[in-house]
Amino acid sequence: MRRLRRSEGLRRLVRETRVAPADLVQPLFVVSGSGVDRPIASLPGQRHVSADVAAAIAADCQARGVGGMLLFGLPDHKDDEGSSAWDDAGPVQEAIRAMRAAAPGLPILTDVCLCQYTSHGACGIVHDGHVDNDATLPLLARVALSHARAGADAVAPSDMMDGRVGAIRSALDAGGLPDTAIVAYSTKFASAFYGPFRDAAGSAPKSGDRKGYQLDPANAREAVREALLDAAEGADALMVKPAGPYLDVIARVRDASPLPLAAYQVSGEYAMLEAAAAVGALDRRTAILESLTAIRRAGADLVITYWAGEAAEWLT
Ligand code: PBG
Repeated sequence: MRRLRRSEGLRRLVRETRVAPADLVQPLFVVSGSGVDRPIASLPGQRHVSADVAAAIAADCQARGVGGMLLFGLPDHKDDEGSSAWDDAGPVQEAIRAMRAAAPGLPILTDVCLCQYTSHGACGIVHDGHVDNDATLPLLARVALSHARAGADAVAPSDMMDGRVGAIRSALDAGGLPDTAIVAYSTKFASAFYGPFRDAAGSAPKSGDRKGYQLDPANAREAVREALLDAAEGADALMVKPAGPYLDVIARVRDASPLPLAAYQVSGEYAMLEAAAAVGALDRRTAILESLTAIRRAGADLVITYWAGEAAEWLT
């Protein structure tokens, strides 16, 4: 073993896992307006941007070889149903069009959920204090269709309602968009690591939590079952989220399904490492690259990470 570790050249030659810019997906938070570029306090280094700025970021990401981008919208207005989520002139829809023009070859994925858009902050319609799974499905399908019409390459439902992948697939097919892919957040845990995101997206639930529809962090077999259900409903790719604390789940889903597998290195993972690096507790760049390598080694084909753009530069 020692002989193969003698030089960086030999180490590189026998390396089992590689991370390339093309494996990375950059999330982006988009708002309405133009010329908007505001730092996000809970996610240092990330920004709220309008469509024109999103277009410039997309062109930059494409130039760095980043694999794709994932959009989250912050609407101007919220209501009980989350209706601005399917507004064809909403921030996500506008950003897709601008980014498509600025970076024609860059895959654009969109997060499909209602929590940023509902006044109560739940991921679906609330009836009698509970999220009504089945009543939410047609609304999610409308959101997905609106994103697809604007030009999204793939929609990524993150709501965790049962049956949403099938409902979205039917709506896309019926809407004449059979080529729009579904990257399902198939295995999404009810995690404390989404904290900074909920500030960034203004999507914290006004009351209660998401344990009624997101997975119990204690359950790995159930996680595999959820992934297989989404696959059966027509998901084109699966996802495990968060990533770092769930490497065992990534490995299990990898073994259970041949579909492409994404892992989402979430806001809390990002904020934790940034905070540790800021106080000098660890070397920032080495730690970031190690975390990405570990997620790939566990079996993820692609990694959604707030460091995508920056890491892509280091990796080329
Ligand atoms: C929307 C959504 C969330 C994240 C992605 N999509 C928040 C949540 O489910 O509470 C979290 C992403 C992150 O923490 O980086 N439902």
